[in-house]
Amino acid sequence: YPIFAQQGYENPREATGRIVCANCHLAKKSVDIEVPQSVLPNTVFEAVVKIPYDTQIKQVLANGKKGALNVGAVLILPEGFELAPPDRISPEIREKMGNLYFQNYRPNRKNIIVIGPVPGQKYSELVFPILSPDPATDKEAHFLKYPIYVGGNRGRGQIYPDGSKSNNTVYSASATGRVSKILRKEKGGYEITIDNTSDGGQVVDIVPPGPELLVSEGELIKVDQPLTNNPNVGGFGQGDAEIVLQDPLRVKGLLLFFASVILAQIFLVLKKKQFEKVQLAEMNL
Ligand code: HEM
Repeated sequence: YPIFAQQGYENPREATGRIVCANCHLAKKSVDIEVPQSVLPNTVFEAVVKIPYDTQIKQVLANGKKGALNVGAVLILPEGFELAPPDRISPEIREKMGNLYFQNYRPNRKNIIVIGPVPGQKYSELVFPILSPDPATDKEAHFLKYPIYVGGNRGRGQIYPDGSKSNNTVYSASATGRVSKILRKEKGGYEITIDNTSDGGQVVDIVPPGPELLVSEGELIKVDQPLTNNPNVGGFGQGDAEIVLQDPLRVKGLLLFFASVILAQIFLVLKKKQFEKVQLAEMNL
């Protein structure tokens, strides 16, 4: 969950560029982000994050049963950009957003926004309403090209913040030996006794409800050999985009320049016409 990242990491983007969700959501899947190529200062625009997956598939839930997937995302904007205040969001953007409740990663980190978990069937496309900064009032903001980073996830993670495994991952043998007993527990899950390990002892590996068993009693197995399948169907992905904070004066300047070029061209043609008339008059002499 994004809250696990908020609690565990001051900055969700590590120095290597990796987004921290990947530490617990081990499978890699794609995400996509769309933002305008450029925005004017103090303007609300939308950043669209796509977390595609087959919405028909089910995953194992914490209780071992099957259920639908949820999605979540973290959006890392340039300093100064932030979530648009509700009264500035246009009805068009509001409609596309749906009933989403975005949050800042930290109260003092307004440029980092998190969302989720939310139902993936409805929100595999997330629309973030963003407000651009105004360099006239915000001295930190400049008219530049900036990177935007996004991390998006569908499905449950494999590791809890305390380091323990979730039931949405593969379980492996902790020793080499023979599977002497498989006890199916009442609430689902298994206790697998492995005999004859190299030191002659016995170990019991516990598999929670969820993953499907791949081994049977009497089988010889090696240490680290998977005891179960990998039930995970979700995954995390990250991506980036670029956005230009555009100075309106520059756009005006460019338009003025275009106008002056057009005028100059017209005057050159007029001048040519005038000169042709003079030539004609000289020939008639
Ligand atoms: C579950 C997103 C960071 C561990 C989820 C779910 C979402 C999500 C959407 C619900 C999936 C579902 O129900 O189908 C994210 C995002 C993260 C992030 C966007 C980064 C901003 C982390 C971190 C950890 C973690 C850092 C580990 C410390 C888990 C686990 C679950 C989970 C174990 C399953 C919980 C359960 O159902 O018992 N995450 N997550 N996540 N996440 Fe994350």
